Amino acid sequence: MCSLVWLLTDRQILEDYPQMQILEALKQRCTAQKVDFSLVLMDQVVLTVTGGQLGLQINQKTVTAYPQVILVRVPTPTVQSDSDITVLRHLEKLGCRLVNRPQAILNCINKFWTFQELAGHGLPLPDTFSYGGHDEFSKMIEAADPLGYPVVVKNTRGHQGKAVFLARDKHHLLDISHLLRHNAPYLFQKYVKESHGKDVRVVIVGGRIVGSMLRCSTDGRMQSNCCLGGIGVTCPLNEQGKLLAMQVSTILGMDICGIDLLLKENGSFVVCEANANVGFNEFDQACKLDLGGIIADYALSLLPSRLSKEMLMPDKAPSSQGPEEETANASGSAEPGSVCTKSKVSTCNHSVTDAEEIRDSLNVPKPCSPVLVDINRSVTE
Ligand SMILES: Nc1ncnc2c1ncn2[C@@H]1O[C@H](COP(=O)(O)OP(=O)(O)O)[C@@H](O)[C@H]1O
Ligand SMILES: [Mg+2]
Repeated sequence: MCSLVWLLTDRQILEDYPQMQILEALKQRCTAQKVDFSLVLMDQVVLTVTGGQLGLQINQKTVTAYPQVILVRVPTPTVQSDSDITVLRHLEKLGCRLVNRPQAILNCINKFWTFQELAGHGLPLPDTFSYGGHDEFSKMIEAADPLGYPVVVKNTRGHQGKAVFLARDKHHLLDISHLLRHNAPYLFQKYVKESHGKDVRVVIVGGRIVGSMLRCSTDGRMQSNCCLGGIGVTCPLNEQGKLLAMQVSTILGMDICGIDLLLKENGSFVVCEANANVGFNEFDQACKLDLGGIIADYALSLLPSRLSKEMLMPDKAPSSQGPEEETANASGSAEPGSVCTKSKVSTCNHSVTDAEEIRDSLNVPKPCSPVLVDINRSVTE
């Protein structure tokens, strides 16, 4: 059986730099390793059920050989369950290994859904409220009183720090409530004062921490997002931070993710949010990595031919273009932690073991049989 890998993305975001970097990295590796590769855009796909069987057409041609691995880059802020997620479900049911899986993407596209998944596992989460009913922002102005002021307000579908703000008091909330776009519900969250203007972005690929970056805003605002002017520098991550990021990634079922952690005064971390699409530029610069290459290596390591080779030769697992495993020792008191792990991209054996250990300790089921939440139904019914 010949190996086939796809990059599945959206026409609108194809020209964005992370997609191009992954595209180049995948093309280069597939050529070198004699793996067939195709770029497929969401709008080229036709889904079929004929004779009681699922099928697929791309550009009016029936697909006869399905890819074993599909790297998915869809714009999570606008993912639609009745189009994008339907395509992903279809491909998963056809036996393709999606990276990330559709359920994992769904777990990240709405910030409150992420917290619903994470709650109940003993992880530190800032207290967070949201609401039922359409456009019921104003009722939260009373209901969120226990969170105190100032309070953090976020659009549950926001991204890049653009739909996050710090409300001083009730009057401020009342004043701005009619200016907000109510395309998705908002959440109200306890303000983690110590983390004002800074957070830590941890990137995990295949159940391994690839690197971590401290992001700091440069203009006094609360949001430290790089696209709002925040600056990223590589930073050590202590054991609690590493474990927390791994737990978040495992519970959400992510293969590739960027976890944002907020800093507490005592050097510990609490969860801010999880992102299925990670930006590369600032992270690569700060951590001196080639994230596109690491992701491409990981995708290829999931090909059945590679997995079986690794099982036969556990010491000969494919190596990545990433850095050698490196543990930077810092003094125990270093902020925000004491140890930085920039690991090699995972070999499958290791990532499965790590993820399984965490999964067992948290009682999280394996992400094998897709049980998909319907986003539109959840939002509107
Ligand atoms: N509860 C909070 N307390 C303090 N700062 C926060 C809090 N939540 C978010 N932030 C800051 O705002 C930034 C953006 O919030 P986040 O939830 O990550 O939304 P986005 O998806 O827009 O990046 C974070 O990176 C962090 O710097
Ligand atoms: Mg964020």
